[in-house]
Amino acid sequence: MDENRYLTFALAKGRLANKTLELLEEVGITCEEMKDKSSRKLIFVNEELKLKFFLSKGPDVPTYVEYGAADIGVVGKDTLLEEGRRVYEVLDLGFGKCRMCVCGPSEARELLKHHEMIRVASKYPNIAKDYFYNKKHQTVDIIKLNGSVELGPIVGLSDVIVDIVETGSTLRENGLEVLEEVCPLSARMIVNQVSMQMQPERIKSLIKKLREQM
Ligand code: PRP
Repeated sequence: MDENRYLTFALAKGRLANKTLELLEEVGITCEEMKDKSSRKLIFVNEELKLKFFLSKGPDVPTYVEYGAADIGVVGKDTLLEEGRRVYEVLDLGFGKCRMCVCGPSEARELLKHHEMIRVASKYPNIAKDYFYNKKHQTVDIIKLNGSVELGPIVGLSDVIVDIVETGSTLRENGLEVLEEVCPLSARMIVNQVSMQMQPERIKSLIKKLREQM
C-alpha cells in the first residue's frame, strides 16, 4: 500500500455533512479548513492525516464513490436506493433518521387498497417504481418531481406521493397523511469497491472507530 495515498471523502451537502464532521471529529479526524463557512473552496485537505474532503449534492455522492473519485461517502439511504450505484454500504451512522412513505389525502387509501391505476409523484421514481411494481404488484403512473412533492395531490397532479417523512409536519400542514411505509432511512457510509481492496486496514479501522463511538 502507498503510505502517501490520500483517503478522499465525499459528503452530501447540508445537515448530513455537518453531522458527519461532528462524528469524525469525535474519532480524532478534523478538517479545520472546512470550518470556514465563508470559504468557496470545494475541496479540503488534512495533510497530516492524508485525508481529503469534498461536499457535493447528495445524489452525486454515490457516483463519485462508484467511480473511485472518492474512496468513502456519506449519504442518505434514500439516495443510495434511488441511485443504485455499485458501492459497498458499510455502516449505518444512525443519524438523519426518517422514513420513505406513500402519502396523500386520506381518501387515497381506497385507491391503494383496490390496486387502482393511480398517479404517484416523487423525487424518487426508482424507489416508487420498485415499491409499487415489485412489492405491491400494482401498475401506477410515476411522475418525477424535483422538490415540494407534497404539492402533487394538493394541486391535482397526482393521487399520492412517495416522499421522505421526518417529523410529519409538512404533511400535517398540508392536509396529507402517511398511507403506507416503504422503508426506514438514515445516513450510511459507503466505500468504493477497489479502495476497500487496496486499503482494507485503513478503512476497516476507521469503520471500527466510528462504530465504537456511536
Ligand atoms: C423533505 C421531504 C419532505 C420534508 C419532510 O423535504 O421531501 O417535504 O422534508 O420533513 P417533515 O416530515 O419533518 O416535515 P426537503 O426539506 O428536503 O425539501 P424538498 O421538498 O425540496 O425535497
